[in-house]
Amino acid sequence: MRDPKRVAVLISGRGSNMRALVEQASGYEVVLVASNKPHAEGLDWVRARGLPTWAWDGTGIDKVDFDRILSAALADHGAGTIALAGFMRILSPWFIEEWRGRVLNIHPSLLPKYRGLDTHQRALDAKDEVGGCSVHVVTEELDAGDVLGQVEVPILADDDAKSLEQRVLVAEHQLYPKVLSEFVNR
Ligand code: GRF
Repeated sequence: MRDPKRVAVLISGRGSNMRALVEQASGYEVVLVASNKPHAEGLDWVRARGLPTWAWDGTGIDKVDFDRILSAALADHGAGTIALAGFMRILSPWFIEEWRGRVLNIHPSLLPKYRGLDTHQRALDAKDEVGGCSVHVVTEELDAGDVLGQVEVPILADDDAKSLEQRVLVAEHQLYPKVLSEFVNR
């Protein structure tokens, strides 16, 4: 029986959302931070806190084999929920099926608008008045699973993609721990 309150966070880089999930953990416990980038910036912070990490870039093996090894590591740590936080690798259908309904992601747009990359520039190009972020369930289709929570962030007249990203990121750090806690305690 997988305990949903035992959360593994998957990162590929900076890890600011992962830090928010660890620092604001309430109603869940982060039991592992895993990465497909052994030099991901966020991992140093996790190690300094004495939390378990797992990292491997999967060089030379098939995508599904990587996902099976990752999945085994998550299970070994007793994870019941997986929170993607800037994990820049598309998970295989096998992995999604194995963890169906237990994987969440944070995305920097008001889904269903702007799935994929460059969300802030696309919102600016479309002259949107609000941007924001969404936490959603991960399915086989990119950024398309059920949306569990969103925060709107006004777009200012002098915003560029960088300034908008920074303000949306602040909202992400507030939204993700709250939605994750609600999700695992539902
Ligand atoms: C965030 O903008 C998140 O919404 C997106 O990737 C970025 C990750 O940033 N999925 P960080 O690594 O959490 O700082």
